[in-house]
Amino acid sequence: MRIVVQPSRSLQGELRPPGDKSISHRAAIIAALAEGTSTINGFLEGADCLSTLACLRSLGVKIRAPEAGQLEVAGQGLFSLQEPETVLDAGNSGTTMRLLLGVLAGQKFYSVLSGDASLRRRPMGRVSNPLKAMGARIWGRRGGELAPLSILGSKLQAINYSLPVASAQVKSALLLAGLYAAGETVLREPWQSRDHSERMLRAAGAAIQVEGQVTRLRGGKPLKPLNVVIPGDMSAAAFFIVAAVILPCAELIVRQVNLNPTRTGILEVLRAMGALIEVISRGKNGMEPVGDIRVCASKLRGVEIGGSIIPRLIDEVPVLAVAAALAEGETVIRDAAELKVKESDRISMVARELAKMGAQIKPAPDGLLINGSTLRGAVVDSHGDHRLAMALAVAGLAAVEGETVIRGAECLAVSYPNFINDLRSMGVEVREEIE
Ligand code: S3P
Repeated sequence: MRIVVQPSRSLQGELRPPGDKSISHRAAIIAALAEGTSTINGFLEGADCLSTLACLRSLGVKIRAPEAGQLEVAGQGLFSLQEPETVLDAGNSGTTMRLLLGVLAGQKFYSVLSGDASLRRRPMGRVSNPLKAMGARIWGRRGGELAPLSILGSKLQAINYSLPVASAQVKSALLLAGLYAAGETVLREPWQSRDHSERMLRAAGAAIQVEGQVTRLRGGKPLKPLNVVIPGDMSAAAFFIVAAVILPCAELIVRQVNLNPTRTGILEVLRAMGALIEVISRGKNGMEPVGDIRVCASKLRGVEIGGSIIPRLIDEVPVLAVAAALAEGETVIRDAAELKVKESDRISMVARELAKMGAQIKPAPDGLLINGSTLRGAVVDSHGDHRLAMALAVAGLAAVEGETVIRGAECLAVSYPNFINDLRSMGVEVREEIE
């Protein structure tokens, strides 16, 4: 499928973003390990989270979906999972593979995790190595670095571990393994990454404590079922927020979006660039802060970013690059080498595809250098990366002339199946075509 986007001067309306992807994965996994039935509302029915559900079902977990976005997960405790008869398929989802690796390491059975071509290229040693230090037995290509991974469940020991990179997926995998381990697991991050697992494990009654970048979890305690309402995904809303900032006559309200500070780096950076973004209401949605925000067309200037803000906006860099490509002056993004091991090599691919639209953008070893200019319509490629596809669609809206054709756009379904309809509902011209 390809999408064809016409330049637009405006984008107007209200957005209710889809349920948060990270929180949806965690809700399903933690509910599956709890003792009793959990209800989840606002679950993201994107391909990634559906991969997690399919894997959990293959592990014997009973999951009902009475209505769209609603799940009832009949958890039967930490040791209730059953040996899967076939390979567990995580699809395109790094979160599914890494978090389940942590769970499977502590089981009493053998399992195999695999995924699509992109996921089979992504680094898994960052999870399998510390898990092995906890006593896990994991094999994969290149010494457990690459999927398919086979896991022979073992008795685990707690670990005291400093993560070499700030990664919520690694941290969460080790916390989930820590539930099965004897003793206290202590994890230290170089910079704080998203903390949804910590919040949800605490709500489920786990013995978890967080102090700054150090998280401690004592294993062996059973988990209580949850009643979760998943807030809107900031990483999905970000495409619309940037579109509203860069289109000259735009105004947008985003409702019930997650305002967890580990996820709002994009708002801080856009504001530093001059964007008019206002939080118009704040509340709490169970364990997570949420709110409504108003965004208006703004004049942007370049910024320099790096360090601890990077993990708080890592998934937003492709669309931030679009804002920077249209800002006045230079934007420098540093300390973001992690982008190379996402669904695509986002440093190279964002630079390559935006350059086709006339952006002044250069890849750097750990980020991007961007000089503001104008964009024009072009034929570009998603490289199978959902966030690149959506960022390019936003760039197409802001083109001074010419339509933008985004090839390989079926990957939108990974995190935002309704992206095109939501864009259309804001009055912009975008259509899907079969390739
Ligand atoms: C995620 C964490 C981030 C992010 C990914 C989702 C999560 O990855 O890029 O899209 O749900 O924990 P890392 O933990 O690898 O940085």
